[in-house]
Amino acid sequence: MELPFAEPYRIKMIEPIRRTTRSEREAWIARAKYNLFNLRSEEVYIDLLTDSGTGAMSSAQWAEIMLGDESYAGASSYYKLKETISELLGMPFLLPAHQGRAAENVLFSALIGVGKEGEGKVVPGNSHFDTTKGHIEFRHAHAIDCTIDEAFDTEIDHPFKGNVDLGKLEKVFMAHPRERIPLCLITITCNSSGGQPVSMANIRETSALCKRYGIPVYFDAARFAENAYFIKLREPGFADKAVKDIVREMFSYVEGCTMSSKKDGIVNIGGFTAFRNEETFRAATSFNIMFEGYNTYGGMAGRDLGALSVGLREACEPDYLSSRIGQVAYLGKALTAAGVPVQKPYGGHAIFIDAKRFLPKLPREEFIAQTLGVELYKEGGLRGVEIGAIMADRDPDTHENRYPALELLRLAIPRRVYTSDHMDYVAAVVINVFERRDAIKRGYRITWEAKLLRHFTVELAPAT
Ligand code: F0G
Repeated sequence: MELPFAEPYRIKMIEPIRRTTRSEREAWIARAKYNLFNLRSEEVYIDLLTDSGTGAMSSAQWAEIMLGDESYAGASSYYKLKETISELLGMPFLLPAHQGRAAENVLFSALIGVGKEGEGKVVPGNSHFDTTKGHIEFRHAHAIDCTIDEAFDTEIDHPFKGNVDLGKLEKVFMAHPRERIPLCLITITCNSSGGQPVSMANIRETSALCKRYGIPVYFDAARFAENAYFIKLREPGFADKAVKDIVREMFSYVEGCTMSSKKDGIVNIGGFTAFRNEETFRAATSFNIMFEGYNTYGGMAGRDLGALSVGLREACEPDYLSSRIGQVAYLGKALTAAGVPVQKPYGGHAIFIDAKRFLPKLPREEFIAQTLGVELYKEGGLRGVEIGAIMADRDPDTHENRYPALELLRLAIPRRVYTSDHMDYVAAVVINVFERRDAIKRGYRITWEAKLLRHFTVELAPAT
């Protein structure tokens, strides 16, 4: 018999979670104005809102916390992290930041500009994450999505749905003068298209095309280790390569990266920008000092820099990655077996339910994925997140709602936190709702929204 995957760790400390009743949940979600972000964590039984900052640190990481050097400048914890990043990613210049979007703010201030300096500029790439797009649009520039078309059909089983469409990218290069394209950004894995990886061949070819037009390429590297593992599993020629070597090769094609360390850094807070080139690094340092803090701490405690240096290495360990990707697939397979429409192949950090296929009769104006998210919460205290029309915000020029090709409800799995039993529970919740889907006839309408990144604070009421 083939031995099943099992977690490559055992549990040393537990954190209690509590089941609640349906009537409690109905009252809480109404009080939360049908926005899952407004719930208190005690009101949630299984929290799959995000895999960001929600992972469990290892004993080695906790040990590193005790060794943290809190010196303002030149802390040894900074140098440990710098060495790790230099060795793992091949990027010698490092600026810590307090999280991923802060790193975006620093990098984009240096490359796109500040205030209206971004006007008329474009940043092409595969689907940009919402904060990334927010930081681009905040500078009056535009993010252009050049992801391959296959990514937008959840039924197509393409191994690298995060890939950049080189034809779409070249069209952007031909339509805009070089000085209006400060960078091309590749997000690995591509969160917005379903936690889908980008192949090594696509990274190489994108980089070569950008080089021909003189455009620097950067990674949004939040889930770089998961991307590398998918390359090992799915791309011919990489099965026998070590994940670390795959990571090194991926980064060899780019100029630098932003990173939300809350994902594949397996820490609860943190981020950074890393650069190959000293000149760009220098241009970014003044923004880092202004927004984040001095170059050797950048909004982070020394102890957290130390824990990150260990977490980045652990995230590249093959046993960890096989258990991580295996657990996500375990949930995906349970849902698929019951006929629940989910993005295929399964993503690296999450299962994405195709809400349009789940609730085909609900009008898009009533926010399909959000409606599904509320139903799953009411059913079993499960919290996912909408990646659909609410998250897509309004068009900055026309102020009309933007309706993305996909309405997804994401179930993001925190790293090293939940067991297979929890996954069985999650599957049962989703399947129960799936079985009574025809009774869900109405969704929600917005009663209040912010101008940018509205999904975090939006307030809703049942559509009538
Ligand atoms: N880039 C990607 C691809 C992300 O997924 C995120 C965050 C960020 C950048 C921003 O990083 O949160 O540290 O500021 N994604 C989280 C999520 C919030 O739930 O997917 P941050």
